[in-house]
Amino acid sequence: MPQLTIIYGEEVREVEAEVGALLGDVIATTGLPLEQPCAGRGTCGLCKVIAEKGLAPPDEIELEHLTRGELAIKNRLACRARIQEDARVVLSPIVVYSNKIFRGSTRYKREKDVELGVAIDLGSTTVAAFLTMQDNGEVCAGAASLNQQTVYGADVISRLAAAVNNPEDQERLHKLAVASINQAVDALKLSDKVRERIRTVSVVGNVAMHHLLVGLPLDTLAVMPFQPYDRASIIDGIEIMEGIFPDGTSVKIPPLIGGFVGSDALACLAYFGFDTSDMPIAAIDLGTNGEVLVTDGKRILTASTAAGPAFEGVNISCGTRAVDGAIVQTRIDGSELLLETIGDEPPVGLTGSGLLSVVHELRHAGVIDASGRIQAAPAVLSERIDVGPDGGRRLQLAPGQDLYLNQWDVRELQKAKGAIRAAIEILMAQLELKPEDLQRFILTGSFGGQVDIEAALNLGMIPPVRVEIVETQANGAGFGAAMFLAGEGFARGEQIAEQAEQIDLDLDPDFNNHYISGMGLSQDGFAFGK
Ligand code: FES
Repeated sequence: MPQLTIIYGEEVREVEAEVGALLGDVIATTGLPLEQPCAGRGTCGLCKVIAEKGLAPPDEIELEHLTRGELAIKNRLACRARIQEDARVVLSPIVVYSNKIFRGSTRYKREKDVELGVAIDLGSTTVAAFLTMQDNGEVCAGAASLNQQTVYGADVISRLAAAVNNPEDQERLHKLAVASINQAVDALKLSDKVRERIRTVSVVGNVAMHHLLVGLPLDTLAVMPFQPYDRASIIDGIEIMEGIFPDGTSVKIPPLIGGFVGSDALACLAYFGFDTSDMPIAAIDLGTNGEVLVTDGKRILTASTAAGPAFEGVNISCGTRAVDGAIVQTRIDGSELLLETIGDEPPVGLTGSGLLSVVHELRHAGVIDASGRIQAAPAVLSERIDVGPDGGRRLQLAPGQDLYLNQWDVRELQKAKGAIRAAIEILMAQLELKPEDLQRFILTGSFGGQVDIEAALNLGMIPPVRVEIVETQANGAGFGAAMFLAGEGFARGEQIAEQAEQIDLDLDPDFNNHYISGMGLSQDGFAFGK
């Protein structure tokens, strides 16, 4: 009997299967995760896997439902594909986020002669695609999906470790990156005619995403002093995309800034005009990592912190991604804790912005003190507080539900915000800037774009700048990538990469002091009054 090998991140299963057996049925016997909601009609697309070998050719239903890009990267529908001989497949989670993450002008539908570009922000967790008019750089639509590499771990380090230990896993991580880009582009739901107008694609990402996508050696990234194998830009990378864009498309990958700071941060620098600003400005790109960018109007300094996972709901006991029912905002009204959830659905967990919001509210109400401790008997909500199985205090978020904010969750937030605050303080100190010198402070990224500015200020996540200068913009890296589609925009990106300096936070003797004081839940000059 043929052998089927199923690869799910670093988990590998081998099972015997009859010739002609349905792939989905065989995978189901292993208990590995595979959704098959439409049970073989080919319509839901949630059972997609990447085939490496041994399957019979796709049938009509598969050919009808798989896009050209999916066929190019050997995506198959597990509910239809049949085993032909010894076979190997890679499971990949298909999650498309709320269809459109950005909706702009529909001019591309009316002006059919204008060439189009697609800008990709290849994030560790989220991959976003933006359809862009080539004549004036206007972004028309955006869509996003989960980075399928997350089967190898939510953090970049575990993915790099898997790739370094096994060249086949490195190749799989590359394929999963391409498959995720394809998924995000498919989520734009472009007609074939619109797709044929795509002439240029630009891709930005952090250093690890860049190397895994391009297929560069990773050894130098995984060991001190963590240098990229190659920072240079790529102006014709169509072969990297393996046929998912029309032939002749120019695929551009802008340069990296350094070993820790990638082209996603470079895109933010371009989009927010760090190179053209003659006054001091700062930005934080908060996704899975936190990139901190500061200029005094002359030098541009950048740094990366591993601060993000808490803000993606990772390492938080009831953390969740932005799904229906995810808590995004909270408010204490009298003795009530009011929760705002996505889609107004019953609460399922806390997003990063929900976590920041609830800690801010609880701090304001005196339920949490400035050191982050949950109080035993505060004046409000004390009936919601008990001691959890781990021996630490916790607060029930919704009555009757197994949904708690525990002491360790508050600590995770404190560590994340401590790292970010330390990074900003160090960059500002190097440029001799004071908070009052900054004229603009931008929070961007999947989490940064959602941040409650008041909470970020009051809890001391960012320095005590004037509230009027703080702004949020969810898609800084994606919109910057859209600027790189045009020749002059790309050249400007290369110029900024030369100009920007990467600061190694580990080498700064003050990092620990800033980190520890940054963990406190208060801001100089702001009193919570409790
Ligand atoms: S289960 Fe829906 S397409 Fe396979």
